[in-house]
Amino acid sequence: MKFFIDTADIKEIKELAASGLLDGVTTNPSLVAKSGAANFIELITEICKVVPGPVSAEVAAMDYDTMLKEGERLAKIAPNVTVKLPLTYDGLRVCKVLSGQGIMTNVTLCFSANQALLAAKAGATFISPFIGRLDDVSMDGLQLISDIVQIYRNYPELSTEVLAASIRHPVHMLECAKIGADVATMPPAVLKQLFNHPLTDKGLAQFAADWEKSGQTIL
Ligand code: E4P
Repeated sequence: MKFFIDTADIKEIKELAASGLLDGVTTNPSLVAKSGAANFIELITEICKVVPGPVSAEVAAMDYDTMLKEGERLAKIAPNVTVKLPLTYDGLRVCKVLSGQGIMTNVTLCFSANQALLAAKAGATFISPFIGRLDDVSMDGLQLISDIVQIYRNYPELSTEVLAASIRHPVHMLECAKIGADVATMPPAVLKQLFNHPLTDKGLAQFAADWEKSGQTIL
């Protein structure tokens, strides 16, 4: 399973890239605005240098012609740029064209399995179903991940990877791993939470105290 982080904050990206556990980054217009970055192109350029895996950069336009131009511009930044496109009729048309040019694509704002099927037909590299936002409206986000994974498995000719998005807590992560999502993108805080367990802390404190008593050294 690949681990992406969902942030445009370069400081957080550098910190977590140093763990060696990061496979990629996803950004969106809201995250870019929150980062306070002055120049979007420069921001994506910097992220692509820090993380060698796929870095999703989202188009801003909604019409086919402008979206295509924006996607081609973003793809020129670095070979690991993944052009993020909305799951709309025009977004999928652009996806088909960019995928045909060998450019990685991530189709975002997916809320149904039928949408995911269309994205795969359009040649998307990744489909991003949003778990948390479905949960927010009393629907079952994890069921959507499960449905898409099952459907894609029925058709081995579909190569699109399921990128579980809008992850809000470690249980979402756990369930996505059990279902078999190819990738999960999570906020930095959730990734950090995965390291923690109170029994690890308790056990470590005990080991440290006993080691101190033993008077032993390693180096
Ligand atoms: C995914 O690519 C999106 O950027 C993200 O996961 C959305 O998460 P949110 O619903 O917490 O904003």
